[in-house]
Amino acid sequence: MTKSNSSKPTTSVPRSAAAASTFGHHPLGIDFGGSGIKGAPVDLGTGEFAAERLRIDTPKPSTPEAVAKVVAEIAEHFHTETGDSPIGVTVPGIVRNGKVLSAANIDKGWIGTDADKLFSDAVGRPVHVVNDADAAGLAEVKYGAVKDRDGLIIVTTLGTGIGSAIIYNGVLVPNAELGHLQIGGHDAESRAAASVKENTDMSWEQWAKRLTKYYGWIEFLFSPDLIVVGGGISKKSDRFLPLIKIDTPLIPAKLLNTAGIVGAAWLANDTYTS
Ligand code: BGC
Repeated sequence: MTKSNSSKPTTSVPRSAAAASTFGHHPLGIDFGGSGIKGAPVDLGTGEFAAERLRIDTPKPSTPEAVAKVVAEIAEHFHTETGDSPIGVTVPGIVRNGKVLSAANIDKGWIGTDADKLFSDAVGRPVHVVNDADAAGLAEVKYGAVKDRDGLIIVTTLGTGIGSAIIYNGVLVPNAELGHLQIGGHDAESRAAASVKENTDMSWEQWAKRLTKYYGWIEFLFSPDLIVVGGGISKKSDRFLPLIKIDTPLIPAKLLNTAGIVGAAWLANDTYTS
């Protein structure tokens, strides 16, 4: 079984009740990002959304309390499809035992917050929080680009920051913060995230040079069998993947912008029903 961290989340809802209540319903996945909070019920048989996704702007500032309100609103919106099934929520930061331990691109008030408890209390049913890139990595393993593939695979997401998931023989090693590798005195994501390309009007060639340096370090440090490139910009992977000059095979993610929601829903279901 794949887990995002070693222990179960803290929640006031009994696990057995949560397991029983999933019958006939879909778990809900919610992706908390810098600009939007997006949710959808997920059909775990196919890895596809079971209803149209709902997106609400991320509150500014994105404090834990403000985000919890949005999560509760999304949970309420999909109650018909999900019943009281578990909810998975992605967070763009380190998550251990339900607690958020870093906040690179979100309100600093998240650091130290017991997010499993905050969200479970806000919606009145079990919520399991997971790092956004870990959720995306799991979704690729269960339904996407690396389904049934063994070996050492590193899934990266190129967006506002750089997220990463390390997967070995289908098992996630949680909380790899490879977007914060220090390269040439810089935090890697501050030089090579997709947001840097967008904000500075960099050409694909210039960006690919930076990505070659970044993925070159990943290759040197981990010797992975495969690197998967995700995040919204991977829709245009043909523009930049062929320009990244490393030896390790690089492939685009398959789930693109559904990966966080799908992985979070899969993991919440796995956590509360197994
Ligand atoms: C955070 C990671 C996150 C990534 C993508 C980084 O700044 O530290 O935890 O996975 O951004 O959102």
